Amino acid sequence: MSMITITMGNQLKLGTGEFTMMKHVLVTGGCGFIGANFIRYLLEEVGDFDGRIVNVDKLTYAGNPKSLADLEASMGDRYRFVRADICDREEMGKIFDDYEIDTVAHFAAESHVDRSIVAPDDFIRTNIFGTYTLLQLARERMDRIGLFHHVSTDEVFGSLGETGLFTEETSYKPNSPYSASKASSDHIVRAYHHTYGLPVTISNCSNNYGPYQFPEKLIPLMIMNAREGKPLPVYGDGKNVRDWLYVRDHCTAIWRVMTRGDRGRTYNIGGRNEMENIRVVEVICDLVDELAGPLEDGRSRRELITYVKDRPGHDRRYAIDCTRMEKEQDWLPEESFETGIRKTIQWYLDNQAWVDDVRSGEYQDWIQAHYG
Ligand code: NAD
Ligand code: TYD
Repeated sequence: MSMITITMGNQLKLGTGEFTMMKHVLVTGGCGFIGANFIRYLLEEVGDFDGRIVNVDKLTYAGNPKSLADLEASMGDRYRFVRADICDREEMGKIFDDYEIDTVAHFAAESHVDRSIVAPDDFIRTNIFGTYTLLQLARERMDRIGLFHHVSTDEVFGSLGETGLFTEETSYKPNSPYSASKASSDHIVRAYHHTYGLPVTISNCSNNYGPYQFPEKLIPLMIMNAREGKPLPVYGDGKNVRDWLYVRDHCTAIWRVMTRGDRGRTYNIGGRNEMENIRVVEVICDLVDELAGPLEDGRSRRELITYVKDRPGHDRRYAIDCTRMEKEQDWLPEESFETGIRKTIQWYLDNQAWVDDVRSGEYQDWIQAHYG
């Protein structure tokens, strides 16, 4: 039977009569793409959240604390950044206790499929061992932990053919070291609920796009290369399909699951927005032409499209059935691909300093100077 939940401010009332206070939220991986957007969403947009956030991030190549640097000043003690590795049990335990953590929103991961093919080690370590470490620390503090939310991906389900959708009941069949490591972490999270009664929720989301995404992923890479007149590398025949979701919509869904989702339950999140990669790239070319002005030599940016060797084991199609989110959680994405991609391109054009910093690697010098 589904448990009824009622939210009152950031106090969560469970149908059983228990209360969970979301006063001290640990966000892992908050200097990455989705984590940074989630922290901004919670602190800047969710009016009835008055708790504090501790953002723990190791600052790998994908973590850029500058994405949230303004919050350290504007949010006072409602926002703290701590550089730490989620695999470091001692340090993480201290953070749980020093900040009296009662809620965990776990985003930290190695997240890029291409990197996982070349060098899987960090994926196994962070995504599996790191998640286990956090679960174990939460389990040791069960009297205080009201929720452990685990952010995962639709890639755990493997690849679809021409038809069909991933539901929460679809069996796992991960194909890349990345998706296999995320699948493992999902299973461990579920087991900690089943075996120890740890209050968990899990969300499996489709491909995200939006501000602050590291420019190794398809959409930001194409926007930046298109702006600069560089080749746009499309893998294989360009007909692989992804289901794109604007990152803020993912954040609203995660918060909905955290505040209203049933403990122990999994939620698929998606945009009902399937597109072939080549179509995504063509849309980006046309919008960059419109928003940034034409290339100096007058060519359309579509002429920059270059087909390159395919990714090994490249999943053909992902598509999410998010009926559970729509029906049980009354959640819908606000952005269509047309509106979301326009906002995203405009953001990358308007935030050239962030882009240059990441591309030149200067943010790493800044991290070295600030955090050693
Ligand atoms: P990202 O690579 O942009 O950010 C990951 C962050 O985790 C970085 O800031 C990095 O420094 C940090 N990190 C890595 N290893 C760490 C460690 N050992 N200890 C502490 N911090 C560490 O990733 P993202 O795109 O923001 O994805 C966030 C989460 O969402 C991941 O769990 C990913 O699997 C999941 N997800 C991503 C997408 C997507 O399209 N990007 C879709 C569905 C689910
Ligand atoms: P990506 O952004 O890496 O996400 P994921 O592999 O997690 O879905 O890639 C999205 C799609 O775009 C995927 O089918 C691979 C393809 N792709 C390219 O064609 N060219 C590129 O340069 C990149 C990075 C990805």
